[in-house]
Amino acid sequence: MTNRFSESQAKALALEAQERLNESRRGFFKVLGVGAAAASGLSAAVFSPEALAYGGPFAPAFGLDPGRTFMNIGTTGSTPIPVLKNLAANNAAIARDPTLTFNTQDMRNIIAPGFGADPFELVMSFNTTDGMNKILNGLNFSAGDEIITTNMEHPGGNSPMQVVSDRLGVVLRRVNLPTSDVYSDALVLSRFQALRTNRTKAIVYSSPPYLTGIRLPEKMLNLWAAANGIWSVHDGAHIPGMIAFDMHDSGIDFFAGAGHKWQCGPGQTGIMYVRNGTSATPYTKSVTTAGVTSTITVPGYSNTTPLAPFWPVGSGGYSATPGTALQGGVRDPADNIAATLMSIGNPSYPALRALQECCQLWDMWGRKTIETYDLSLAQYLRSRLAAIWGNRSMATPYDANLPHHAQVALTSFNPFSPGYDYNADLTPAQATQQTTASTNAVNALRDVHKIVIRNTATPHTLRSNPNVNAAADAFSHPLRISTHLFHTPADVDNLVTALLATVPHP
Ligand SMILES: Cc1ncc(COP(=O)(O)O)c(C=O)c1O
Repeated sequence: MTNRFSESQAKALALEAQERLNESRRGFFKVLGVGAAAASGLSAAVFSPEALAYGGPFAPAFGLDPGRTFMNIGTTGSTPIPVLKNLAANNAAIARDPTLTFNTQDMRNIIAPGFGADPFELVMSFNTTDGMNKILNGLNFSAGDEIITTNMEHPGGNSPMQVVSDRLGVVLRRVNLPTSDVYSDALVLSRFQALRTNRTKAIVYSSPPYLTGIRLPEKMLNLWAAANGIWSVHDGAHIPGMIAFDMHDSGIDFFAGAGHKWQCGPGQTGIMYVRNGTSATPYTKSVTTAGVTSTITVPGYSNTTPLAPFWPVGSGGYSATPGTALQGGVRDPADNIAATLMSIGNPSYPALRALQECCQLWDMWGRKTIETYDLSLAQYLRSRLAAIWGNRSMATPYDANLPHHAQVALTSFNPFSPGYDYNADLTPAQATQQTTASTNAVNALRDVHKIVIRNTATPHTLRSNPNVNAAADAFSHPLRISTHLFHTPADVDNLVTALLATVPHP
Protein backbone atom coordinates (compact mmCIF):
# COMPACT_ATOMS: atom_id res chain seq x y z
CA MET A 1 0.00 0.00 0.00
CA THR A 2 1.20 3.51 -0.69
CA ASN A 3 2.74 5.64 2.05
CA ARG A 4 4.67 8.89 2.36
CA PHE A 5 7.90 6.99 1.78
CA SER A 6 6.87 5.90 -1.69
CA GLU A 7 5.99 9.49 -2.61
CA SER A 8 9.32 10.92 -1.49
CA GLN A 9 11.13 7.94 -3.00
CA ALA A 10 9.31 8.44 -6.31
CA LYS A 11 10.19 12.13 -6.29
CA ALA A 12 13.85 11.40 -5.52
CA LEU A 13 13.95 8.94 -8.43
CA ALA A 14 12.38 11.53 -10.75
CA LEU A 15 14.94 14.14 -9.74
CA GLU A 16 17.75 11.64 -10.21
CA ALA A 17 16.43 10.71 -13.68
CA GLN A 18 16.13 14.40 -14.54
CA GLU A 19 19.77 14.96 -13.60
CA ARG A 20 20.81 12.00 -15.77
CA LEU A 21 18.82 13.39 -18.68
CA ASN A 22 20.44 16.81 -18.34
CA GLU A 23 23.85 15.22 -17.90
CA SER A 24 23.45 13.14 -21.04
CA ARG A 25 22.80 16.26 -23.04
CA ARG A 26 25.50 18.37 -21.45
CA GLY A 27 27.97 15.49 -21.75
CA PHE A 28 27.19 15.00 -25.41
CA PHE A 29 27.78 18.65 -26.22
CA LYS A 30 30.98 18.74 -24.15
CA VAL A 31 32.47 15.71 -25.87
CA LEU A 32 31.61 16.62 -29.42
CA GLY A 33 31.29 20.37 -29.52
CA VAL A 34 29.72 22.14 -32.46
CA GLY A 35 32.46 21.56 -35.00
CA ALA A 36 33.01 17.90 -34.28
CA ALA A 37 29.30 17.19 -34.28
CA ALA A 38 28.87 18.89 -37.62
CA ALA A 39 31.93 17.08 -38.95
CA SER A 40 30.37 13.74 -37.98
CA GLY A 41 28.29 14.36 -41.10
CA LEU A 42 25.19 12.72 -39.70
CA SER A 43 23.28 15.54 -38.17
CA ALA A 44 24.89 18.85 -38.85
CA ALA A 45 21.53 20.52 -39.25
CA VAL A 46 20.50 20.14 -35.62
CA PHE A 47 23.89 21.05 -34.24
CA SER A 48 23.60 24.79 -34.75
CA PRO A 49 25.29 26.83 -32.00
CA GLU A 50 21.82 27.93 -30.99
CA ALA A 51 20.59 24.36 -30.55
CA LEU A 52 23.67 23.51 -28.54
CA ALA A 53 23.04 26.41 -26.19
CA TYR A 54 20.11 24.54 -24.64
CA GLY A 55 22.23 23.12 -21.86
CA GLY A 56 19.84 23.48 -18.90
CA PRO A 57 16.37 22.11 -18.28
CA PHE A 58 14.66 20.82 -21.38
CA ALA A 59 11.69 23.18 -21.53
CA PRO A 60 13.59 26.00 -23.33
CA ALA A 61 14.35 23.66 -26.24
CA PHE A 62 10.62 23.59 -26.98
CA GLY A 63 8.44 26.48 -28.02
CA LEU A 64 5.56 25.59 -25.70
CA ASP A 65 3.51 28.50 -24.28
CA PRO A 66 5.23 29.26 -20.95
CA GLY A 67 1.86 30.47 -19.61
CA ARG A 68 0.48 26.93 -19.46
CA THR A 69 1.58 23.38 -18.82
CA PHE A 70 0.86 21.11 -21.75
CA MET A 71 0.29 17.54 -20.52
CA ASN A 72 -1.47 15.97 -23.50
CA ILE A 73 1.44 14.67 -25.57
CA GLY A 74 -0.71 11.55 -26.02
CA THR A 75 -2.64 13.56 -28.61
CA THR A 76 0.32 15.38 -30.12
CA GLY A 77 3.73 16.72 -29.09
CA SER A 78 5.69 19.94 -29.61
CA THR A 79 8.53 20.16 -32.13
CA PRO A 80 11.87 21.34 -30.67
CA ILE A 81 12.84 24.91 -31.64
CA PRO A 82 16.05 24.07 -33.57
CA VAL A 83 14.16 21.51 -35.64
CA LEU A 84 11.36 24.00 -36.30
CA LYS A 85 13.87 26.53 -37.59
CA ASN A 86 15.35 24.01 -39.99
CA LEU A 87 11.84 23.00 -41.08
CA ALA A 88 11.04 26.62 -41.98
CA ALA A 89 14.40 27.05 -43.73
CA ASN A 90 13.93 23.83 -45.73
CA ASN A 91 10.41 24.84 -46.77
CA ALA A 92 11.79 28.19 -47.92
CA ALA A 93 14.60 26.48 -49.81
CA ILE A 94 12.13 24.29 -51.71
CA ALA A 95 9.87 27.26 -52.44
CA ARG A 96 12.91 28.98 -53.91
CA ASP A 97 14.03 25.93 -55.87
CA PRO A 98 11.17 23.44 -56.34
CA THR A 99 13.53 20.94 -57.97
CA LEU A 100 15.25 20.37 -54.61
CA THR A 101 14.88 16.82 -53.24
CA PHE A 102 16.18 15.15 -50.06
CA ASN A 103 17.46 11.59 -49.92
CA THR A 104 15.00 9.59 -47.82
CA GLN A 105 17.25 6.50 -47.74
CA ASP A 106 19.79 8.63 -45.86
CA MET A 107 17.04 9.47 -43.37
CA ARG A 108 16.09 5.81 -42.87
CA ASN A 109 19.74 4.82 -42.48
CA ILE A 110 20.13 7.43 -39.74
CA ILE A 111 16.97 6.71 -37.73
CA ALA A 112 16.40 2.94 -38.08
CA PRO A 113 19.02 1.84 -35.49
CA GLY A 114 17.29 3.97 -32.82
CA PHE A 115 14.24 1.71 -33.22
CA GLY A 116 16.14 -1.59 -33.41
CA ALA A 117 15.23 -1.92 -37.08
CA ASP A 118 16.85 -2.48 -40.47
CA PRO A 119 16.87 0.68 -42.65
CA PHE A 120 15.05 -1.31 -45.38
CA GLU A 121 12.07 -2.02 -43.10
CA LEU A 122 11.64 1.28 -41.20
CA VAL A 123 9.11 3.45 -43.03
CA MET A 124 8.58 7.17 -42.39
CA SER A 125 4.79 7.17 -42.76
CA PHE A 126 2.33 10.03 -42.42
CA ASN A 127 1.09 9.09 -38.92
CA THR A 128 -0.26 6.11 -36.98
CA THR A 129 -3.57 6.09 -38.83
CA ASP A 130 -1.75 6.02 -42.17
CA GLY A 131 0.49 3.17 -40.99
CA MET A 132 -2.44 1.10 -39.72
CA ASN A 133 -4.27 1.58 -43.03
CA LYS A 134 -1.22 0.57 -45.06
CA ILE A 135 -0.74 -2.54 -42.91
CA LEU A 136 -4.32 -3.79 -42.68
CA ASN A 137 -5.12 -3.15 -46.34
CA GLY A 138 -1.80 -4.61 -47.44
CA LEU A 139 -2.30 -8.01 -45.77
CA ASN A 140 -3.85 -10.97 -47.60
CA PHE A 141 -7.16 -11.50 -45.83
CA SER A 142 -9.97 -13.71 -47.17
CA ALA A 143 -13.64 -14.06 -46.24
CA GLY A 144 -14.02 -15.88 -42.95
CA ASP A 145 -10.52 -15.06 -41.70
CA GLU A 146 -10.49 -13.76 -38.15
CA ILE A 147 -8.66 -10.93 -36.40
CA ILE A 148 -8.38 -10.93 -32.63
CA THR A 149 -8.34 -7.34 -31.44
CA THR A 150 -9.44 -5.49 -28.29
CA ASN A 151 -12.28 -3.35 -26.99
CA MET A 152 -9.91 -0.38 -26.60
CA GLU A 153 -8.66 0.32 -30.12
CA HIS A 154 -8.36 3.82 -31.49
CA PRO A 155 -10.33 4.81 -34.63
CA GLY A 156 -6.95 4.85 -36.44
CA GLY A 157 -6.92 1.05 -36.09
CA ASN A 158 -10.64 0.35 -35.86
CA SER A 159 -11.40 2.10 -39.15
CA PRO A 160 -9.09 0.00 -41.39
CA MET A 161 -10.14 -3.16 -39.50
CA GLN A 162 -13.78 -2.35 -40.23
CA VAL A 163 -12.91 -1.80 -43.90
CA VAL A 164 -11.35 -5.26 -44.23
CA SER A 165 -14.27 -6.69 -42.30
CA ASP A 166 -16.97 -5.09 -44.48
CA ARG A 167 -15.08 -5.39 -47.77
CA LEU A 168 -13.61 -8.87 -47.42
CA GLY A 169 -15.77 -10.57 -44.80
CA VAL A 170 -13.05 -10.74 -42.13
CA VAL A 171 -14.45 -11.45 -38.66
CA LEU A 172 -13.35 -9.16 -35.81
CA ARG A 173 -13.23 -10.78 -32.36
CA ARG A 174 -12.59 -8.51 -29.42
CA VAL A 175 -10.78 -9.16 -26.15
CA ASN A 176 -12.01 -7.13 -23.15
CA LEU A 177 -8.84 -5.63 -21.69
CA PRO A 178 -8.68 -5.76 -17.89
CA THR A 179 -8.08 -2.47 -16.03
CA SER A 180 -6.71 -1.17 -12.73
CA ASP A 181 -5.87 -3.74 -10.01
CA VAL A 182 -7.66 -6.48 -11.99
CA TYR A 183 -5.03 -6.17 -14.76
CA SER A 184 -2.37 -8.84 -15.30
CA ASP A 185 -0.26 -9.74 -18.35
CA ALA A 186 -1.26 -13.39 -17.96
CA LEU A 187 -4.95 -12.46 -18.04
CA VAL A 188 -4.46 -10.45 -21.25
CA LEU A 189 -2.69 -13.35 -22.95
CA SER A 190 -5.31 -15.85 -21.80
CA ARG A 191 -8.09 -13.66 -23.21
CA PHE A 192 -6.36 -13.58 -26.60
CA GLN A 193 -5.82 -17.34 -26.42
CA ALA A 194 -9.49 -17.93 -25.60
CA LEU A 195 -10.59 -16.24 -28.86
CA ARG A 196 -8.23 -18.19 -31.12
CA THR A 197 -9.78 -20.50 -33.73
CA ASN A 198 -8.39 -22.24 -36.79
CA ARG A 199 -9.43 -19.14 -38.79
CA THR A 200 -7.40 -16.68 -36.70
CA LYS A 201 -5.14 -14.84 -39.12
CA ALA A 202 -3.91 -11.82 -37.14
CA ILE A 203 -3.84 -10.13 -33.77
CA VAL A 204 -4.20 -6.34 -33.87
CA TYR A 205 -3.73 -4.41 -30.64
CA SER A 206 -2.73 -0.96 -29.47
CA SER A 207 -0.16 -0.77 -26.72
CA PRO A 208 -0.50 1.40 -24.79
CA PRO A 209 -4.20 1.82 -25.63
CA TYR A 210 -5.22 5.48 -25.69
CA LEU A 211 -8.07 4.93 -23.22
CA THR A 212 -6.12 3.58 -20.22
CA GLY A 213 -2.41 3.84 -21.04
CA ILE A 214 -1.76 0.34 -19.68
CA ARG A 215 1.03 -1.34 -21.71
CA LEU A 216 0.17 -4.82 -22.92
CA PRO A 217 2.73 -7.66 -22.87
CA GLU A 218 3.71 -6.97 -26.49
CA LYS A 219 6.49 -9.51 -26.89
CA MET A 220 4.49 -12.25 -25.18
CA LEU A 221 1.54 -11.63 -27.52
CA ASN A 222 3.74 -11.40 -30.64
CA LEU A 223 5.66 -14.60 -29.96
CA TRP A 224 2.48 -16.46 -29.01
CA ALA A 225 0.98 -15.33 -32.33
CA ALA A 226 4.14 -16.28 -34.25
CA ALA A 227 4.19 -19.74 -32.67
CA ASN A 228 0.65 -20.27 -33.92
CA GLY A 229 1.15 -18.99 -37.47
CA ILE A 230 -0.71 -15.74 -36.70
CA TRP A 231 0.47 -12.29 -37.89
CA SER A 232 0.93 -9.58 -35.27
CA VAL A 233 0.08 -5.89 -35.77
CA HIS A 234 0.97 -3.34 -33.07
CA ASP A 235 -0.65 0.09 -33.03
CA GLY A 236 2.21 1.73 -31.13
CA ALA A 237 1.06 5.33 -31.58
CA HIS A 238 2.64 6.33 -28.25
CA ILE A 239 5.82 4.27 -28.42
CA PRO A 240 8.24 6.35 -30.58
CA GLY A 241 9.84 9.04 -28.42
CA MET A 242 8.44 7.71 -25.14
CA ILE A 243 9.79 4.15 -24.99
CA ALA A 244 13.21 2.92 -26.15
CA PHE A 245 11.66 0.24 -28.33
CA ASP A 246 13.48 -2.52 -30.20
CA MET A 247 11.40 -3.74 -33.14
CA HIS A 248 13.48 -6.88 -33.78
CA ASP A 249 13.47 -7.93 -30.14
CA SER A 250 9.72 -7.29 -29.77
CA GLY A 251 8.89 -10.03 -32.29
CA ILE A 252 6.30 -7.82 -34.03
CA ASP A 253 5.44 -8.37 -37.70
CA PHE A 254 3.93 -4.92 -38.37
CA PHE A 255 4.07 -1.72 -36.31
CA ALA A 256 2.49 1.71 -36.81
CA GLY A 257 3.35 4.64 -34.55
CA ALA A 258 3.29 8.42 -34.49
CA GLY A 259 6.19 10.72 -35.27
CA HIS A 260 4.27 13.76 -34.04
CA LYS A 261 3.35 12.62 -30.52
CA TRP A 262 6.14 11.72 -28.05
CA GLN A 263 8.77 11.88 -30.80
CA CYS A 264 7.75 15.54 -31.26
CA GLY A 265 8.05 15.59 -35.06
CA PRO A 266 5.76 17.80 -37.18
CA GLY A 267 2.11 16.91 -37.76
CA GLN A 268 1.43 14.04 -40.16
CA THR A 269 4.67 12.19 -39.50
CA GLY A 270 4.86 8.57 -38.38
CA ILE A 271 7.11 5.59 -37.81
CA MET A 272 6.01 2.34 -39.44
CA TYR A 273 7.79 -1.01 -39.47
CA VAL A 274 7.43 -4.19 -41.54
CA ARG A 275 9.47 -7.17 -40.31
CA ASN A 276 11.60 -8.15 -43.25
CA GLY A 277 13.86 -10.93 -42.00
CA THR A 278 13.92 -14.26 -40.21
CA SER A 279 17.48 -14.43 -38.90
CA ALA A 280 17.86 -14.99 -35.15
CA THR A 281 21.48 -13.87 -35.32
CA PRO A 282 22.74 -10.35 -36.13
CA TYR A 283 23.58 -9.73 -39.77
CA THR A 284 25.59 -7.12 -41.66
CA LYS A 285 24.41 -4.82 -44.38
CA SER A 286 26.08 -2.29 -46.64
CA VAL A 287 24.41 1.14 -46.56
CA THR A 288 25.27 4.42 -48.23
CA THR A 289 24.51 7.57 -46.25
CA ALA A 290 25.32 11.02 -47.63
CA GLY A 291 27.44 9.33 -50.30
CA VAL A 292 29.53 7.36 -47.81
CA THR A 293 29.19 3.56 -47.86
CA SER A 294 29.59 1.64 -44.63
CA THR A 295 28.73 -1.74 -43.18
CA ILE A 296 26.25 -1.83 -40.34
CA THR A 297 25.35 -4.72 -38.04
CA VAL A 298 21.62 -5.26 -37.59
CA PRO A 299 20.35 -7.20 -34.55
CA GLY A 300 18.64 -10.56 -35.19
CA TYR A 301 14.90 -11.16 -34.83
CA SER A 302 13.16 -12.83 -31.89
CA ASN A 303 10.41 -13.85 -34.35
CA THR A 304 11.95 -16.08 -37.03
CA THR A 305 8.74 -17.33 -38.65
CA PRO A 306 8.08 -16.85 -42.41
CA LEU A 307 7.23 -13.32 -43.54
CA ALA A 308 3.57 -12.48 -44.18
CA PRO A 309 2.59 -11.87 -47.83
CA PHE A 310 2.19 -8.09 -48.11
CA TRP A 311 1.06 -5.58 -50.75
CA PRO A 312 2.35 -1.99 -50.79
CA VAL A 313 -1.01 -0.21 -50.60
CA GLY A 314 -0.98 3.60 -50.89
CA SER A 315 2.36 3.77 -52.68
CA GLY A 316 3.56 4.48 -56.20
CA GLY A 317 6.37 1.99 -55.84
CA TYR A 318 4.64 -1.19 -57.03
CA SER A 319 5.44 -2.80 -60.35
CA ALA A 320 4.12 -5.79 -62.31
CA THR A 321 7.69 -6.84 -63.08
CA PRO A 322 8.40 -10.23 -61.50
CA GLY A 323 11.19 -10.04 -58.94
CA THR A 324 10.61 -6.40 -57.98
CA ALA A 325 9.94 -5.65 -54.31
CA LEU A 326 6.64 -7.08 -53.03
CA GLN A 327 5.54 -8.08 -56.56
CA GLY A 328 2.49 -10.32 -56.08
CA GLY A 329 2.76 -9.74 -52.32
CA VAL A 330 5.81 -12.04 -52.28
CA ARG A 331 8.41 -11.41 -49.57
CA ASP A 332 12.19 -11.39 -49.89
CA PRO A 333 14.46 -10.24 -47.03
CA ALA A 334 16.70 -8.56 -49.62
CA ASP A 335 13.92 -6.17 -50.66
CA ASN A 336 13.92 -2.55 -49.64
CA ILE A 337 10.34 -2.57 -48.36
CA ALA A 338 10.67 0.92 -46.89
CA ALA A 339 11.74 2.45 -50.20
CA THR A 340 8.76 0.87 -51.96
CA LEU A 341 6.28 2.00 -49.29
CA MET A 342 7.74 5.52 -49.17
CA SER A 343 7.56 5.98 -52.91
CA ILE A 344 4.46 8.20 -52.79
CA GLY A 345 4.89 10.89 -55.41
CA ASN A 346 6.22 14.16 -54.06
CA PRO A 347 6.46 14.11 -50.26
CA SER A 348 7.07 16.94 -47.78
CA TYR A 349 10.83 16.55 -47.63
CA PRO A 350 11.14 19.23 -44.92
CA ALA A 351 8.66 17.37 -42.67
CA LEU A 352 10.51 14.08 -43.16
CA ARG A 353 13.82 15.80 -42.46
CA ALA A 354 12.33 17.34 -39.31
CA LEU A 355 11.24 13.90 -38.09
CA GLN A 356 14.75 12.62 -38.82
CA GLU A 357 16.24 15.46 -36.77
CA CYS A 358 13.88 14.82 -33.84
CA CYS A 359 14.95 11.16 -33.90
CA GLN A 360 18.60 12.24 -33.93
CA LEU A 361 18.05 14.50 -30.94
CA TRP A 362 16.42 11.59 -29.06
CA ASP A 363 19.25 9.22 -30.03
CA MET A 364 21.74 11.82 -28.85
CA TRP A 365 19.99 12.60 -25.57
CA GLY A 366 19.49 8.84 -25.08
CA ARG A 367 16.21 7.05 -25.76
CA LYS A 368 16.53 5.00 -22.58
CA THR A 369 17.38 8.09 -20.53
CA ILE A 370 14.30 9.89 -21.86
CA GLU A 371 12.14 6.83 -21.21
CA THR A 372 13.44 6.54 -17.64
CA TYR A 373 12.71 10.20 -17.02
CA ASP A 374 9.19 10.09 -18.51
CA LEU A 375 8.37 6.98 -16.48
CA SER A 376 9.84 8.38 -13.27
CA LEU A 377 7.61 11.44 -13.61
CA ALA A 378 4.60 9.17 -14.19
CA GLN A 379 5.63 7.14 -11.14
CA TYR A 380 5.86 10.28 -9.04
CA LEU A 381 2.44 11.40 -10.27
CA ARG A 382 0.95 7.98 -9.47
CA SER A 383 2.48 7.96 -6.00
CA ARG A 384 0.91 11.35 -5.27
CA LEU A 385 -2.50 10.39 -6.66
CA ALA A 386 -2.40 7.12 -4.70
CA ALA A 387 -1.67 8.96 -1.45
CA ILE A 388 -4.77 11.15 -1.85
CA TRP A 389 -7.34 9.21 -3.91
CA GLY A 390 -6.09 5.66 -3.28
CA ASN A 391 -4.33 3.28 -5.60
CA ARG A 392 -7.52 1.96 -7.17
CA SER A 393 -8.25 5.41 -8.65
CA MET A 394 -5.85 4.70 -11.55
CA ALA A 395 -5.78 2.35 -14.54
CA THR A 396 -2.18 1.66 -13.54
CA PRO A 397 -1.97 1.66 -9.73
CA TYR A 398 1.33 2.91 -8.30
CA ASP A 399 3.86 0.09 -7.94
CA ALA A 400 7.41 0.99 -6.93
CA ASN A 401 8.66 -2.03 -8.90
CA LEU A 402 7.41 -0.54 -12.19
CA PRO A 403 6.15 -3.75 -13.83
CA HIS A 404 6.09 -3.86 -17.64
CA HIS A 405 2.43 -2.83 -17.91
CA ALA A 406 3.22 0.37 -15.94
CA GLN A 407 6.18 1.29 -18.13
CA VAL A 408 4.28 4.08 -19.79
CA ALA A 409 4.09 7.85 -19.31
CA LEU A 410 0.31 8.05 -19.75
CA THR A 411 -1.60 8.04 -16.46
CA SER A 412 -5.35 7.41 -16.51
CA PHE A 413 -6.99 8.57 -13.27
CA ASN A 414 -10.63 8.59 -12.18
CA PRO A 415 -11.63 10.72 -9.17
CA PHE A 416 -15.28 10.79 -10.31
CA SER A 417 -16.40 7.18 -9.73
CA PRO A 418 -17.94 5.97 -6.45
CA GLY A 419 -15.24 5.20 -3.88
CA TYR A 420 -12.60 6.70 -6.24
CA ASP A 421 -12.56 3.24 -7.77
CA TYR A 422 -11.45 3.11 -11.43
CA ASN A 423 -13.39 -0.12 -11.89
CA ALA A 424 -16.60 0.94 -10.12
CA ASP A 425 -19.81 -0.13 -11.86
CA LEU A 426 -21.80 2.86 -13.12
CA THR A 427 -25.46 3.17 -14.00
CA PRO A 428 -26.15 4.93 -17.31
CA ALA A 429 -27.27 7.99 -15.30
CA GLN A 430 -24.04 8.00 -13.31
CA ALA A 431 -22.04 7.59 -16.52
CA THR A 432 -23.75 10.62 -18.06
CA GLN A 433 -23.14 12.64 -14.91
CA GLN A 434 -19.49 11.59 -14.91
CA THR A 435 -19.02 12.64 -18.54
CA THR A 436 -20.11 16.15 -17.60
CA ALA A 437 -18.03 16.29 -14.40
CA SER A 438 -14.93 15.03 -16.18
CA THR A 439 -15.30 17.40 -19.14
CA ASN A 440 -15.88 20.33 -16.76
CA ALA A 441 -12.69 19.36 -14.90
CA VAL A 442 -10.63 19.26 -18.13
CA ASN A 443 -11.98 22.71 -19.03
CA ALA A 444 -11.34 24.18 -15.55
CA LEU A 445 -7.82 22.78 -15.45
CA ARG A 446 -7.17 24.42 -18.82
CA ASP A 447 -8.93 27.75 -18.23
CA VAL A 448 -8.33 28.35 -14.52
CA HIS A 449 -5.14 26.45 -13.76
CA LYS A 450 -3.55 26.61 -17.23
CA ILE A 451 -2.88 22.87 -17.38
CA VAL A 452 -3.85 20.95 -20.52
CA ILE A 453 -4.86 17.29 -20.15
CA ARG A 454 -7.65 15.21 -21.75
CA ASN A 455 -10.27 12.68 -20.73
CA THR A 456 -11.46 9.47 -22.37
CA ALA A 457 -14.69 7.41 -22.50
CA THR A 458 -13.44 4.10 -21.16
CA PRO A 459 -14.97 0.58 -21.04
CA HIS A 460 -13.19 -0.29 -17.77
CA THR A 461 -13.43 -3.70 -16.08
CA LEU A 462 -16.44 -4.00 -13.77
CA ARG A 463 -15.63 -4.40 -10.09
CA SER A 464 -18.78 -6.54 -9.70
CA ASN A 465 -17.61 -8.97 -12.40
CA PRO A 466 -13.98 -8.71 -13.57
CA ASN A 467 -14.76 -10.89 -16.62
CA VAL A 468 -16.94 -8.14 -18.02
CA ASN A 469 -16.19 -4.57 -19.11
CA ALA A 470 -18.57 -1.63 -18.92
CA ALA A 471 -21.38 -1.52 -21.48
CA ALA A 472 -21.47 1.34 -23.99
CA ASP A 473 -23.98 3.33 -21.95
CA ALA A 474 -22.00 2.94 -18.71
CA PHE A 475 -18.43 3.90 -19.69
CA SER A 476 -16.40 5.88 -17.18
CA HIS A 477 -14.69 9.18 -18.01
CA PRO A 478 -11.21 9.17 -16.47
CA LEU A 479 -8.63 11.94 -16.93
CA ARG A 480 -5.49 11.17 -18.92
CA ILE A 481 -2.19 12.86 -18.13
CA SER A 482 1.03 12.74 -20.21
CA THR A 483 4.45 13.38 -18.62
CA HIS A 484 7.39 14.06 -20.93
CA LEU A 485 10.91 15.42 -21.05
CA PHE A 486 9.85 19.07 -20.88
CA HIS A 487 8.08 18.55 -17.52
CA THR A 488 9.55 18.57 -14.03
CA PRO A 489 8.42 17.11 -10.68
CA ALA A 490 7.21 20.64 -9.84
CA ASP A 491 4.75 20.43 -12.76
CA VAL A 492 3.39 17.22 -11.23
CA ASP A 493 3.00 18.97 -7.85
CA ASN A 494 1.17 21.87 -9.51
CA LEU A 495 -1.14 19.48 -11.29
CA VAL A 496 -2.01 17.67 -8.04
CA THR A 497 -2.72 21.01 -6.33
CA ALA A 498 -4.95 22.02 -9.25
CA LEU A 499 -6.73 18.65 -9.15
CA LEU A 500 -7.46 19.09 -5.44
CA ALA A 501 -9.10 22.41 -6.28
CA THR A 502 -11.05 20.96 -9.21
CA VAL A 503 -12.16 17.34 -8.77
CA PRO A 504 -13.82 15.38 -5.92
CA HIS A 505 -11.37 14.19 -3.28
CA PRO A 506 -11.52 12.42 0.11
C1 LIG B 1 -3.54 4.20 -29.85
C2 LIG B 1 -3.67 5.24 -30.92
N1 LIG B 1 -3.69 4.87 -32.21
C3 LIG B 1 -3.78 5.76 -33.21
C4 LIG B 1 -3.85 7.10 -32.96
C5 LIG B 1 -3.91 8.06 -34.11
O1 LIG B 1 -2.68 8.71 -34.18
P1 LIG B 1 -2.22 9.57 -35.42
O2 LIG B 1 -2.67 10.96 -35.16
O3 LIG B 1 -0.72 9.45 -35.38
O4 LIG B 1 -2.79 8.97 -36.63
C6 LIG B 1 -3.84 7.55 -31.64
C7 LIG B 1 -3.94 8.98 -31.33
O5 LIG B 1 -4.17 9.43 -30.24
C8 LIG B 1 -3.75 6.59 -30.59
O6 LIG B 1 -3.73 6.97 -29.31
